[in-house]
Amino acid sequence: MEPAEHRAGAGGRRGGTADPVPDPEEDRLGGHLAGAEMPEPVPVIDLFRVSGSHGAAEAEQEAAKLRSALHSWGFFLVTNHGMETSLMDAMATASRAFFQLPLEGNQDHSNLKDRKHWRLEGYGNDDVNAQDQILDCDLLHEYTVSCGRIKDGILRAMARLLELDDDDCLIDELGDRGSTYARFNYYPPCPRPDLVLGIRPHCDVGVLTLLLMDRDVAGLQVLRDGTWYGVPPVGHGYGLTLASLWRSPVHRAVTNSEQERISLAMFYAADLEKEIEPLAQLLDEKQPARYKRVKCRDLLAAHRDTNGAGQENTMADDESWRLPSTVQELAATVQDPPSRYRIPEQDPLSDQLAGAEMPEPVPTINLRRLLASDDVADEEAAKLRSALQRWGFFLVTDHGIEASLMDALIASAREFFRKPLEEKQAYSNLIGGKQWQLEGYGNDPVKTQDQILDWSDRLHLRVEPEDERNLDRWPGHPESFRGLLHEYTVSCKRVKDGILRAMARLLELEDDGILGQFGDKGTTYARFNYYPACPRPELVLGLRPHSDVCVLTLLLMDKHVAGLQVLRDGTWYGVPPVSDRALLVNVGVSLEIMSNGMFRGPVHRAVTNSEKERMSLAMFYSTDLEKEIEPIAELLDEKQPARYKKIKFRDFVATHYDYFSKRERVIESLKI
Ligand code: OGA
Ligand code: NI
Repeated sequence: MEPAEHRAGAGGRRGGTADPVPDPEEDRLGGHLAGAEMPEPVPVIDLFRVSGSHGAAEAEQEAAKLRSALHSWGFFLVTNHGMETSLMDAMATASRAFFQLPLEGNQDHSNLKDRKHWRLEGYGNDDVNAQDQILDCDLLHEYTVSCGRIKDGILRAMARLLELDDDDCLIDELGDRGSTYARFNYYPPCPRPDLVLGIRPHCDVGVLTLLLMDRDVAGLQVLRDGTWYGVPPVGHGYGLTLASLWRSPVHRAVTNSEQERISLAMFYAADLEKEIEPLAQLLDEKQPARYKRVKCRDLLAAHRDTNGAGQENTMADDESWRLPSTVQELAATVQDPPSRYRIPEQDPLSDQLAGAEMPEPVPTINLRRLLASDDVADEEAAKLRSALQRWGFFLVTDHGIEASLMDALIASAREFFRKPLEEKQAYSNLIGGKQWQLEGYGNDPVKTQDQILDWSDRLHLRVEPEDERNLDRWPGHPESFRGLLHEYTVSCKRVKDGILRAMARLLELEDDGILGQFGDKGTTYARFNYYPACPRPELVLGLRPHSDVCVLTLLLMDKHVAGLQVLRDGTWYGVPPVSDRALLVNVGVSLEIMSNGMFRGPVHRAVTNSEKERMSLAMFYSTDLEKEIEPIAELLDEKQPARYKKIKFRDFVATHYDYFSKRERVIESLKI
């Protein structure tokens, strides 16, 4: 579709703020960010009752509620905690007032030393310390003391739940110099709250957090069983504005377009020098330690690193969730796909897995005609233009690659996937069985525990530059494999060059206007996708929705089995298999940026079926990793300013995988 047209569609929907036109996939994200309603009210614990002040029976009852809250959610509201509502209100007002100071005012307290080096304390993106004179010192002090009492009360109740022999056991665990951080969070209204997070998903690293939530504005969400639940604000008159987070539930904050939101978190962490480990009293032969001992200081540091990388919880010794087994093995053993593979029920697309029939046949371009030197080329170029505008992908026929070569390569790859696991693992994409890398046999990287996994395995190989192949990742058996892949690579290059030249002409650039953008070491990856049959294909995706990060993709689809689907205007269309070995060509997001949005990389996905395995081979053409991707200068002028920021391809790929694991499209982050 014509970009201008595309932009015009929903203009004004959000009243003229930045880029008001939602793409279909953004809507999906928006829906996702909304958060489900909690199936029950947030558990409320009466601190006075649980402490036993009303007698043993009532304490017992309240403790049962606490146990259930910790078990089901890992967080709860506390009431009857002894802190004056007026004190909480005063704190909320004071912190709001601080954030409303002019910028210079709060930058006196910046957490960037010399405006450059981040440190933990100060105004910026982290914590404000009780000793700082930012707020009325007495007020913060009073609040700190009050929270300290509540924290002690909760830790005592928890110690009783764990049947520790001393009620003060957990309090003592914080050590002599346990530290408390107060973090004031300020979430300004956001013109596109569907595109950003206020705080990314994370677990708190301390022992306990007391959170004073905004009384009026919602934003906190908690993850349970793969679903994000919104925690409602507690409102006026309740006085229940303290929530506690324990057992590390994964949580995040979303924003909204109307109101700012504030919250104040008190984090209780152990003495930095203290070793954190499972309490000896809780261990016996049946209950061995499940976590290694770690010094609090190291835990905090590790948490900061992994959290910065968009990951969470560093506590678990058992990180096997990062290393799922291959889907092929799974498919051979399970009746039902495990929960990690199931797309969330609230996903608005889950009932649409069947895919609609395309309203017209897939556009087909004859490459020989396209590259001819007479009028037929113009005719074919017009077809190409229309295919790119309507779909962003097309089939190419008469491409000059022998069908027998394609058949032989696919047969050879299929033979590889049918080999025993041990043999395939010699080419694993996990270095030392652990560290993920792009090349080799395996799955995509697993970044977070709640990431939904795809029902497919793959073999991913860098085939160009030819002198930089890592042949140790190329299967040695069947013996034909390496030779066939080499031959196919050489043939595909001609096809890719021809198509990119024709596209450059469409943009009124020199013939090599796009090819010239690849830099010294343009890279080609071959990815063999293997989708085992799935007993419950309606619950999983073979490959989650994505746009390819490269410039151009040539996809050799399975001759017999359908599975590829493309998103257009909110509808998923099934792409039927083609028997004549036509290649499916699709625009990647690198080219979307280079063409300044004239060509769009379509969002696509793959579904599975219960009967037949499916194989496809994608050739991804990308620029040199060190090359900056940006709109081609010749396409820009005053009327057509750059619509994307530039980014080094290496960084683009890295971010792509972060977004990809979250099912989001990386290019949205680059829109100007
Ligand atoms: C891909 C891809 C689709 C398919 O590998 O990027 O989109 O049909 N594959 O396998
Ligand atoms: Ni793709």
